Amino acid sequence: MTRYEQLAGMIRQQIEDDIWQVGDRLPSLRETVKSSGLSLMTVLQAYQLLESQGWVVARPQSGYYVAMRLKPFAAAKGGKGLNLSENVEISASIFDVLQACKDPQIIPFGSAFPDPSLLVEPKLSKTLASVARRFVPHSSLANLPPGNEKLRRNISRRYASYGIHVSPDEIVITAGAMESLSFSLQSVTSPGDWVVIESPAFYGALQAIERLRLKSIAIKTDPHTGIDLDSLEEIVQKYPIKACWLMSRFQNPLCSTMPTKHKQRLVEILNQNQIALVEDDVYSELYFGQEPPEPIKAWDTENNFMHCSSFSKCLAPGYRVGWVAAGKHAKKIQQLQIMSTVSASTPTQLAIADYLTQGGYDNHLRRLRRQLEQLQSQMLRAISDYFPQSVKVNSARGGYFLWLEFEPPFNANRLYKLALAKNISIAPGSMFSTSSQFDHAFRLNTSFAWNETQALAMKELGGLCHALLRECG
Ligand SMILES: Cc1ncc(COP(=O)(O)O)c(C=O)c1O
Repeated sequence: MTRYEQLAGMIRQQIEDDIWQVGDRLPSLRETVKSSGLSLMTVLQAYQLLESQGWVVARPQSGYYVAMRLKPFAAAKGGKGLNLSENVEISASIFDVLQACKDPQIIPFGSAFPDPSLLVEPKLSKTLASVARRFVPHSSLANLPPGNEKLRRNISRRYASYGIHVSPDEIVITAGAMESLSFSLQSVTSPGDWVVIESPAFYGALQAIERLRLKSIAIKTDPHTGIDLDSLEEIVQKYPIKACWLMSRFQNPLCSTMPTKHKQRLVEILNQNQIALVEDDVYSELYFGQEPPEPIKAWDTENNFMHCSSFSKCLAPGYRVGWVAAGKHAKKIQQLQIMSTVSASTPTQLAIADYLTQGGYDNHLRRLRRQLEQLQSQMLRAISDYFPQSVKVNSARGGYFLWLEFEPPFNANRLYKLALAKNISIAPGSMFSTSSQFDHAFRLNTSFAWNETQALAMKELGGLCHALLRECG
């Protein structure tokens, strides 16, 4: 953490402890320079950070004042009960929503991708150009599955930096996380098998289940603690579950992160019943605090957990480079890959491997996390300013989504259509389930640069929510 972030953290704590109250003038920059021993620039950066996070407001020629606090939002409720699907069919509706996000005229609050301008990393482009100049045809053969060795070693080192042992030999490089997730699921199932997922779940899980002709049991998932473990325990007694696909941190779309105790109990349930885990962890590097929460893979004593991630959300979406730390399933996954897409693209694997070796990735990530945290605060403030009071909001200390709920019969599919007519996209809750139980909810992407257009779009969206609620009576 930088010095200005430390100072901002300290002042934030003082505001939370009511040492400084709403409307109070904070000590001037000069006074803080004197009391903290930090430079004027550092103090100014700290105050600006607090301002961007909505804790203070600057008044010209007067100083920084403690801002009105956002009213706490009511907590989102998430899903109910179980949802068994013997015939999962979801792809068509999702395709329409995703297509809408491609149109540059549309404000992409429904997008699953981070704002591309956050991921401009000139060093990586240079590395790709240099790789292309040096590229020899033999390279494509040398980097067939499991993929480029230097890249796998670099990924192993990143696991090690978080205290997790993953050997380069168990890593398979894939074309993005979607491919690693899909192959992981396929490696432990046959058509007709039962698979457990979250409710609501990332629509990629629903699509993979549909494509592999599996049967799913979606278990209610709490916006704060994740998948319901009592229900899971009951289900594994009744059904021959082959795999469990979930996200233990910064879940898409709910933004839930499982507490450590829940993760450990989940591991026990899976191991006792010999159920393979497909852990989707694409937002792992986008945590806001000092340390990330741990992935479930950290407790994989049986080598039966497949931890899937990629560089798509934090570095280079278009490069399509992902991986799975696949434990004992690594070989099977390589076979599946050879039989379908053959391998991930070689030049982009080499470029990311060189980029990681050169250093600078951590600086990029620190900057990105800071920006995402600030952008999330702006969106929360806009919701507080423009949305009906009855909105329930769930946010995470990481990633770039917010999950919003109103009470039924509010219908987010209708909100989606009305918003799209005004060139604003949202991701309606129906994308994340084969049931209609999330029709009153939607997901917003918070990563887009905050400007007047975004603010107006949020105001417009809030207005539509007011109108829909009035219709509901
Ligand atoms: C939760 C989740 N998993 C996986 C993916 C796919 O990642 P990739 O683009 O690396 O294939 C996404 C992308 O939206 C996602 O949101």
